[in-house]
Amino acid sequence: MLPLSSPTGRSSLSGVCYLSMGLIVLLLGLVFASIYIYKYFLITQSVLRCGVRYDDTLYSPFRQQLELLEDVKIYFEDNYEQINVLVPQFGGSDPADIVHDFQRGLTAYHDMALDKCYVIDLNTTIVMPPHNLWELLVNVKKGTYLPQTYIIQEEMIVTEHINDLEQLGSFIYRLCNGKETYRLKRRTARRRINRREAGNCSHIRHFENTFVVETVICKKS
Ligand SMILES: *[C@@H]1O[C@H](CO)[C@@H](O)[C@H](O)[C@H]1NC(C)=O
Ligand SMILES: *[C@@H]1O[C@H](CO)[C@@H](O)[C@H](O)[C@H]1NC(C)=O
Repeated sequence: MLPLSSPTGRSSLSGVCYLSMGLIVLLLGLVFASIYIYKYFLITQSVLRCGVRYDDTLYSPFRQQLELLEDVKIYFEDNYEQINVLVPQFGGSDPADIVHDFQRGLTAYHDMALDKCYVIDLNTTIVMPPHNLWELLVNVKKGTYLPQTYIIQEEMIVTEHINDLEQLGSFIYRLCNGKETYRLKRRTARRRINRREAGNCSHIRHFENTFVVETVICKKS
């Protein structure tokens, strides 16, 4: 004879087990689905207003502490960054809109004071790609990183006028359409920009990395 130990109780117990397992799977499914939807709809484009403090050592032998503020929009799917430099504390620097198009490997500066556009190859030593930049800026904003930084300078020479803006891709096209647009060339020889020349140069200060960059854009002399 077989010992019959309440077969009905056992099956109802396993029924409850299956039901709760099913519920857990369903809940997990919902959680993953909402994470996916959240990522898809919110993370494809993100906007952040961000500020950094830096020591300005470029024009004065004394360290002067300044703050730079910019609005950063990052488009993860399209692989580009749009930066709006708000009216800077440093008087000699122009407010600007900047696009870094990682797909095309191009950077465009719209100098708002002159209402002119300048295009040059994207320099990945200076500009972090979208995900890295986003992570950096979120940490800077939280105050967990980079309370204080430094500035470097790069000098560009204005070269030829660009007539066909469409060849630059739709993001730069949107930024520069209707504005006089020029190509830039990096000046490699390091030297100090003298006073007389400085009058023909404009300055844009911005950050897309752990340091601030002053891009000096000069007319050919
Ligand atoms: C990128 O920027 C760095 C720092 O200013 C500079 O040393 C380097 O030559 C630049 N690279 C290109 C390809 O322009
Ligand atoms: C600066 O521009 C002015 C007028 O456009 C010109 O006369 C002068 O020679 C320029 N200076 C330099 C150093 O290019």
